[in-house]
Amino acid sequence: MKILVTGGAGFIGSALIRFLRARQLAEVVNVDALTYAGNPESLPGLDMDPGYWFEKVDIRDRAALERVFRDHRPDAVMHLAAESHVDRSILGPEVFVDTNVVGTQNLLAVAREYGSSLDDRSDGPAAAPAATGQAYPLPPGPAVASPRERFRFHHISTDEVYGDLPLEAPAFTESTPYAPSSPYAASKAASDHLVRAWHRTYGLPVVVTNCSNNYGPYQFPEKLIPLMILNAMAGKPLPLYGDGGQIRDWLHVEDHAEALWVVLQRGEVGRTYNIGGDAERTNRQVVEAICDMLDARRGQAAGGGSGSHRDLIQYVADRPGHDRRYAIDSRRIQSELGWRPAHSFEAGLRETIQWYIDHPQWVQRVQSGAYREWIEANYAGRETTSASIGRG
Ligand code: NAD
Ligand code: TYD
Repeated sequence: MKILVTGGAGFIGSALIRFLRARQLAEVVNVDALTYAGNPESLPGLDMDPGYWFEKVDIRDRAALERVFRDHRPDAVMHLAAESHVDRSILGPEVFVDTNVVGTQNLLAVAREYGSSLDDRSDGPAAAPAATGQAYPLPPGPAVASPRERFRFHHISTDEVYGDLPLEAPAFTESTPYAPSSPYAASKAASDHLVRAWHRTYGLPVVVTNCSNNYGPYQFPEKLIPLMILNAMAGKPLPLYGDGGQIRDWLHVEDHAEALWVVLQRGEVGRTYNIGGDAERTNRQVVEAICDMLDARRGQAAGGGSGSHRDLIQYVADRPGHDRRYAIDSRRIQSELGWRPAHSFEAGLRETIQWYIDHPQWVQRVQSGAYREWIEANYAGRETTSASIGRG
């Protein structure tokens, strides 16, 4: 099987490719424009891998996409390329519409044309599902008939499309109505709608997944967890938006990669699967956990007064339109496809901190001039609020 992965040089795409190639589950064509968020160094050793190809292509470039499909003839598409950071979408929403909406429509159009050109004659029953390395049984695969019927377009989306969840409300299910708050979430919601429309109108064989916040190795340090780990290690302030009481559900990126593979293999065409980590935490709890783990590891804070990393926490002006809570009900993927997360949040966070400690070169290179400009743009004008207390 050959999979065309878009956005494979990003955080989740690179974890997916490392997962697929380490287990020899599929050959991979990585289509990535290498924006600020794309980093080939997140795919170590793959340049020597005969089952891996890299195409530096922008998903907005239709002719280039057509060429890639023609040259590589994939059996499936896993679409992760996107602008993915909420704060950037607030400061500059245009590129989010361009890439996430127009880019996705472009990819859908090319995939549809390609998919309908595939052979529709049966070539016998499907091969047995490949092992994923996790200790749960996968259901037996259906006897699919032809390359055209086997073709899949897997759209990777976010729980943020469901919008702000009241504290006492039950977690998001696959039928929760869409109510996106940020330009990022709105652009992802639009792309989800396009993908579903392409299924219903043109019969494109799609599966959609909506996932909660990911964390783990190789995450660009503009997102909460790597930003806080690296700032704390450097003795820099830890900027919590608002009162730090916003709740997110956290999933280890390697658990996400496995869930994506399971859905691609066994998901029902036209169906959506929510993916979550069963780990709801407030941002304050997350940052305090990072501080405590670093305290335990290194004893003294680099810059904190009393010696705890918690002294670096600063409450700063809130993000406009900030959603209070996201939570995922992932019973569908658990009961129908047998997947569940393998990492506990605390163990996964500890491993992630260790990874950032062990990879100073990767960190140094992503913290380039462009990264420093972003930190300046997002944080310099953000007032420290009266909620600011050293130990939250
Ligand atoms: P990321 O920002 O780390 O990576 C995005 C990748 O897409 C980069 O490699 C970038 O170069 C590439 N890209 C951007 N614009 C492109 C374009 N026009 N053409 C080709 N490539 C382009 O993002 P991520 O965190 O890995 O997220 C991947 C996907 O998963 C996104 O679709 C995101 O919406 C979704 N998602 C992310 C999270 C999360 O917590 N990070 C949670 C749920 C869903
Ligand atoms: P983020 O990692 O940007 O993911 P998302 O906005 O997609 O959930 O942020 C996670 C949470 O952390 C979110 O509630 C915003 C908050 N946050 C801060 O409090 N301070 C920060 O510096 C950042 C980047 C995020």
